[in-house]
Amino acid sequence: MLILKTITEIKNFTRKAQAQNKSTGLVPTMGYLHPGHLALVKKAVEQCDLVVVSIYVNPLQFGPREDLAAYPRDLERDSQLLQATGVDVLFIPSDKEVYPSGHNTTVTVGAALTGKLCGSQRPGHFTGVATVVTKLFNIVRPERAYFGQKDAQQVLVIQRVVQDLNMDTEIIVVPTVRESDGLARSSRNIYLNPAERQAAVILSKSLQLAQKVWQQGQRDAATICSLVIAKINTEPLAKPEYVQVYAYPDLQAVEQLNGTALLALAVRFGKTRLIDNLILEG
Ligand code: PAF
Repeated sequence: MLILKTITEIKNFTRKAQAQNKSTGLVPTMGYLHPGHLALVKKAVEQCDLVVVSIYVNPLQFGPREDLAAYPRDLERDSQLLQATGVDVLFIPSDKEVYPSGHNTTVTVGAALTGKLCGSQRPGHFTGVATVVTKLFNIVRPERAYFGQKDAQQVLVIQRVVQDLNMDTEIIVVPTVRESDGLARSSRNIYLNPAERQAAVILSKSLQLAQKVWQQGQRDAATICSLVIAKINTEPLAKPEYVQVYAYPDLQAVEQLNGTALLALAVRFGKTRLIDNLILEG
């Protein structure tokens, strides 16, 4: 596995491979890799001739009071994890490489997708994500790029960018990978102390409850949200930030769910904020 740090190097490398008609897959990450990332990598290796994984903790997607400085990093461990996977290139640019002095362009997706759920709790977050992903797509020019369904709103935002800006990259969405007790894999799980880790299972339990009432025919968005919030509140360490249901994939507000819907939630355990979601198939 080649490790490249500059945009010139990775551009030269991928352009040469693309000139030989090799399909390129990109797995953008912020590192501290876990089995969720490795599922994206596995899919990319299956589907593409050349696989690039990027590790870049993107400052633009962190708010002023968020965990940028504390965000977990372990490049040595990450590159070891990737060694055996069949990844061709690990791209680890510096902040100066990605945002050189004078950088002054961002990509913003409209409020219909970004003014709710995590977008309303984390102003500027999706502009940061859309900007860095657009830059990575322009640098690597991947035929396919891989994202996890755990970040459901991020997936919708990136799909919107690709469609609206006429990009040629196909977005491949990989199902959420969970621990054996149901907790969705996330780099932020590391912040949980043992009691919070145990308590965090309430996220997937509450989604299972929503799935059950949905299957029993419940279609009232407010009722489903209230049941989920009540379930989360049975866990004293869990502090729900939002629990919301929207029509999927346009995220329009709906009272009665007639088609497919997204149930998304964010819950705090101490200082740690976890998200999870469920697609209720219409
Ligand atoms: O999902 C993430 O880890 C990040 O938001 C991404 C897509 C790598 C952009 O920085």
